[in-house]
Amino acid sequence: MLVSAKEMLNKAREGKYAVGQFNINNLEWTKAILLTAQECNSPVILGVSEGAGKYMCGYKTVVGMVKGMIEELNITVPVALHLDHGSFEGAKACINAGFSSVMFDGSHYSIEENIAKTTELVNACNVLGLSLEAEVGSIGGEEDGVIGAGECADPNECKMIADLGVTMLAAGIGNIHGKYPENWAGLSFETLAAVKEKVGDMPLVLHGGTGIPADMIKKAISLGVAKINVNTECQLAFQAATREYIEAGKDLSGKGFDPRKLLAPGFEAIKATVKEKMELFGSINKA
Ligand code: 13P
Repeated sequence: MLVSAKEMLNKAREGKYAVGQFNINNLEWTKAILLTAQECNSPVILGVSEGAGKYMCGYKTVVGMVKGMIEELNITVPVALHLDHGSFEGAKACINAGFSSVMFDGSHYSIEENIAKTTELVNACNVLGLSLEAEVGSIGGEEDGVIGAGECADPNECKMIADLGVTMLAAGIGNIHGKYPENWAGLSFETLAAVKEKVGDMPLVLHGGTGIPADMIKKAISLGVAKINVNTECQLAFQAATREYIEAGKDLSGKGFDPRKLLAPGFEAIKATVKEKMELFGSINKA
């Protein structure tokens, strides 16, 4: 069922595990993630960036597809449909389109403007029972053309935003989107602990889940991270499996050109990646 992310994340924080946010791009992606969550009896968050929303023909199309799939596939685990790194306008559009959760990424504004815009969205989400993620300290790497420097968030600013009544908070702790460079310094657990100290029980969000070593993931969860975002890793798994199918010439034999066959190995690869992450995050059987 489509639900806000609030309850699943509070349960995760209390139970010392994390719920995965997996970004979707199309029908195959969405089906793979929903079926894996059901098979693993795990709560799940479907992430939609503004670019992916546009690609999938708009937020209303996404809401229709996800709701239809939950019903037709008999998905009974909690599912949140969440806008990833939303602009202020994008967040409002997703609220109107029927998303159950939104992120407003005001990290590139001054803290005053981030507070003003986040406050407006807190009120709108509260009225409708939706969950809201806010961000302090931008996440490095590139996503939909937005390049963040991978800052470490100021714990005092985190507290100011948390106190507005958001559901969960993404704080930059040296994490970046996409593959990590060879010389990456790792997550700043010092920053994470300082943020946790200030914000108390608020579930924290770790972006850039692709390629973070298992021991760092576990430590981050022990320090209050209850939501971990994964995007690139599913894309890489899909790409590698699709490449293997074509390089093996399978698209050229029989009806191997049928899109339902051509996309099947990539679909299975996404399922395997999502399952592996759910095991690592500890969310299996927590639905
Ligand atoms: P990755 O693409 O690095 O997994 O990051 C995903 C993310 O944080 C989406 O917001």
